[in-house]
Amino acid sequence: MTSILILYHSQQHGNTQRMATAVADGARAAGADVTVHNGNDGRFDVETYRSFDAAAFGSPDYFSYIAGTLKVFLDDWYIAKGQNPTGLVDKPLVLFYSHGGGGAVKRPLETLFARLGHQMGKTVESLGAPSGRVLEACQELGRQLAEAAQAASG
Ligand SMILES: Cc1cc2nc3c(=O)[nH]c(=O)nc-3n(C[C@H](O)[C@H](O)[C@H](O)COP(=O)(O)O)c2cc1C
Repeated sequence: MTSILILYHSQQHGNTQRMATAVADGARAAGADVTVHNGNDGRFDVETYRSFDAAAFGSPDYFSYIAGTLKVFLDDWYIAKGQNPTGLVDKPLVLFYSHGGGGAVKRPLETLFARLGHQMGKTVESLGAPSGRVLEACQELGRQLAEAAQAASG
């Protein structure tokens, strides 16, 4: 069974969390083993990232940038990669974000996470609470990611 990590930050309204849950539902429905972590609950150990076949990353727009916990993950990832890149590069990944009407986080989100692997599908966005359509798009992202993970794991 392929393993997928969904790492996100959600704090204010739970908007990004709802998106993360929908991505997880889609990936599980496609047969993947899914681990979900909200950076707001604590620092994610970058060493465990090595063992996942694929990953989804989601952030709220905070001052037109990603949330601090995801930035910390990227900092940890960069330092760990310098020591040993095994399992830290070239994974399939998908991206999602929520915002309050600006949404300029899209660019830094895509640019920063492009370092980690190959983005599958298009980044899914939600203005405020995710609509049914947004949640469906998130489920579809999860399905796509599970298929890519299966192909990547051989
Ligand atoms: C500290 C902070 C900064 C924010 N900055 C922006 C911003 O620059 N642009 C924007 O569109 N929304 C901004 N927002 C709104 C959030 O992106 C939006 O409410 C988001 O859906 C919250 O996600 P969550 O409910 O998963 O925590 C900000 C919210 C907070 C708490």
